[in-house]
Amino acid sequence: MPDVSVLMTSVGAYLPKKILTNQDLSVFVETNDEWIRQRTGITQRHIVDDGELTSDMAREAALKALQRVGLDGSDIDLIIVATTTPDDTFPSTATKLQHQLGATCAVAFDIQAVCAGFVYALDIADAMLRTGRGRKAIVVGAESFSKILDWKDRSTCVLFGDGAGAVILERDDDPSDWGIRSSILHSDGAHRDILFVDGGPSSSADVGHVRMEGNKVFRHAVEKLSSVMDEALAAAGMTVSDVDWLVPHQANIRIIDGMQKKMQLPSDRVIRTVDKHANTSAASIPLALSVAVNDGRIKNGEIVAFEAIGGGLVWGAALVKYGRPKN
Ligand code: COA
Repeated sequence: MPDVSVLMTSVGAYLPKKILTNQDLSVFVETNDEWIRQRTGITQRHIVDDGELTSDMAREAALKALQRVGLDGSDIDLIIVATTTPDDTFPSTATKLQHQLGATCAVAFDIQAVCAGFVYALDIADAMLRTGRGRKAIVVGAESFSKILDWKDRSTCVLFGDGAGAVILERDDDPSDWGIRSSILHSDGAHRDILFVDGGPSSSADVGHVRMEGNKVFRHAVEKLSSVMDEALAAAGMTVSDVDWLVPHQANIRIIDGMQKKMQLPSDRVIRTVDKHANTSAASIPLALSVAVNDGRIKNGEIVAFEAIGGGLVWGAALVKYGRPKN
């Protein structure tokens, strides 16, 4: 039994109002609904409106997560925003969020691990709360990927969407089997060239656009995700039969279904939102979690497995007993 537990007590999410369907895309790029659905499972994506920022979405998601458990910004000690599409090069989106939430006592910073950003941020927040660097944290995944897409490149622009999701983590000094049970991360920079953005502050004059060799990324995905999930299960002393729900990164329905088969999980134990949200990078897991908690599928005390892979490559998995033990 660990010395303390780090509970995941709440979730909130935000999606921009504007929706772009596959049909809408086919008007300005050579693609069609059938190709996108068959290869990716995506039917639509939400896109930020003019002037709507990553920090605006992060704030809405964080407020919903706070309200669900009756907390406000002043209760929070730590804010981590996972994003690859911050409002500005600096300061961080997290410090903006801190100010907007009135979280005056919180330490706030961004982390960048692209589509694995949420599992990376979760791991860091878990370690910080476990070692006494605060009692309550907000971990946010928030992305405006539409801002870094090349809207003329049909092989990438059809895949992504915008949104934000947030979870509340709370340190519990009574050790139990609740909360974050294990978390494993990996990185391998040798694969940089299969998924990257061709711009950035030190390499170019602009922020650049997403470039990807999709089939190479695809080949890495299921293999790396299933092996890191095995590591996370072993670290938690669990087997697949202990897992109630898989909440995977929502990049592509074929990767999600591949993971489900590899893990030999029943199909209805996997949360799929890629059809409506597309790939929202660091936001995709908390967005999917929020959908499944709100519609009553994921309940207090159930074991949830998270996994994600992103540009770098970076990847990871975590196992969480969701919610709070009843007194
Ligand atoms: N609409 C229509 N045709 C398209 C298209 C689109 N949006 N995008 C690509 N095509 C075409 C290609 O030009 C190619 O045509 P060709 O055979 O005449 O050259 C054909 O479709 C097949 O392209 P390919 O890239 O081999 O397709 P694929 O089966 O690998 O599917 C992805 C492409 C991107 C859907 C798939 O590789 C994938 O999902 N990869 C993982 C990407 C991912 O998840 N990245 C994020 C990780 S966080």
